[in-house]
Amino acid sequence: MSNEAWRGKSYLAEKDYTGRSLLDIIELAQSLRQERADGLEEQRLIGKKIALVFEKASTRTRCAFEVAAFEQGASTTYLGPAGSHLGKEESVKDSARVLGRMYDAIAYRGFAQRTVEELSLYSQRPVFNALTDEWHPTQSLADVMTMMSHSTSSLSQISFVFVGDGRNNVARSLLITGAMLGMDVRICAPKELWPDAVTISLANDFAIESGARIKVDHDPKEALYNVEFVYSDVWLSMGESKELLGQRVELLSPYQVNSSLIEHTGRDDWKFMHCLPALHDETTLQGLELLERFGTTAFEVTDEIFESENSIVFDQAENRLHTIKALLVSTLS
Ligand code: CP
Ligand code: NVA
Repeated sequence: MSNEAWRGKSYLAEKDYTGRSLLDIIELAQSLRQERADGLEEQRLIGKKIALVFEKASTRTRCAFEVAAFEQGASTTYLGPAGSHLGKEESVKDSARVLGRMYDAIAYRGFAQRTVEELSLYSQRPVFNALTDEWHPTQSLADVMTMMSHSTSSLSQISFVFVGDGRNNVARSLLITGAMLGMDVRICAPKELWPDAVTISLANDFAIESGARIKVDHDPKEALYNVEFVYSDVWLSMGESKELLGQRVELLSPYQVNSSLIEHTGRDDWKFMHCLPALHDETTLQGLELLERFGTTAFEVTDEIFESENSIVFDQAENRLHTIKALLVSTLS
């Protein structure tokens, strides 16, 4: 099951691999999903130990690593935002060398990309980027797997649009992944929130090789035309100052995924995707806070779209498990 491109390697960003090797993980995830559903899962990671170092909150990513490891016979240790010395009393370099002596691999969620790179360098173990400010490379694997399951088109014919803060980790990971896989990739955002020029240029370079079509556009009418998957994410990412919120709401309100925006697809078979968590009603503390401040509970997506039959967000969330499991098996078995 392990694969030479992945065995013993870190996964810090999609760009460090090839489109073919990303697809290998997704294909393995598809077969692991089937094995699990049939009750025939084989354990390939018995005795392996994985440290989960999370400096930001997480539900899906943490649970996907924990359940994937458990189902494959490995064990995990969770070190939460307040639970370790990392970056506070102890340098990343020193913590990495300690963890490397005890664990077979490390998953890290936090802020700077350089932290995950340092962990990989000094632990000398495979390190998985479980989200940084720059990239969310385990998310994009699950996202492509979900699109493949919900589309009748071949991978290169699948189109998706990310609507919202085009500079955030999820948008950048999707842009690069779609470019590497030869897909029809669109980012729909106000110009102030377009991905940085280096990332756009990297996506264009990958597209020359893969045949991907890349469009970054501020106009939802253009960007959503005939697109199959409409993807959104929070308007303020973890770690960003709450002071930015007013400005973000102003910039991004025209990009809320609601029924009028969806009309630009011109299709009935559009599907809605979101990495989650999503702000779409008043059932969260954050939702209530925003209701008080802005008089609405719908930000990046309305409750109507989120709860519609076209929403595939929970299949997407489940696929975090299968893809993270495939990553663990490919690197550690
Ligand atoms: N999509 C995602 O990364 O979710 P969590 O923040 O819950 O891990
Ligand atoms: N862009 C979001 C993704 C959460 C999974 C954030 O970084 O908070």
